[in-house]
Amino acid sequence: MEQTLLLIKPDAVRRHRIGEILARLEQAGFAITGLVMRRLNRSQAEQFYAIHKGKEFFPSLVEFITSGPVVASRLEAEDVRSRVRQFIGPTDPAQARPGTIRAVFGTSIRMNAVHASNPEEDVEKELSFFFPESQQES
Ligand code: CMP
Repeated sequence: MEQTLLLIKPDAVRRHRIGEILARLEQAGFAITGLVMRRLNRSQAEQFYAIHKGKEFFPSLVEFITSGPVVASRLEAEDVRSRVRQFIGPTDPAQARPGTIRAVFGTSIRMNAVHASNPEEDVEKELSFFFPESQQES
């Protein structure tokens, strides 16, 4: 069974949307097999988002993601990596299809409520960042 990482970001945590977002994920058939709330410090945030280092939005992304706790979930299902990305919608909530997580809970391209690992990038690395015990070969 495939696994991926989904983060509920500080904007959604502040607005008390953790339960609603997790409920939607479960209703969609994604099993939650790990859950942790953590506040990242600057160096952890820079490490987690290292792939975006050097981009113009990187400083504001780090500022935002360290502004409060995040909730990290490990999700499991067939083909979960691409299905979750469809389910949350694109980065910019304004471009997201009605009913997707970012359309419902996101308020801007920066405050877009959730992050899900990009299947084209290193999913295992993102998972092990929050769930070190779940390291597996892919
Ligand atoms: P996420 O899927 O977590 O991956 C990187 C994040 O950077 C993205 O969601 C947004 O929160 C943020 N991001 C991407 N593009 C921009 C942008 N143009 N301005 C501000 N933040 C951005």
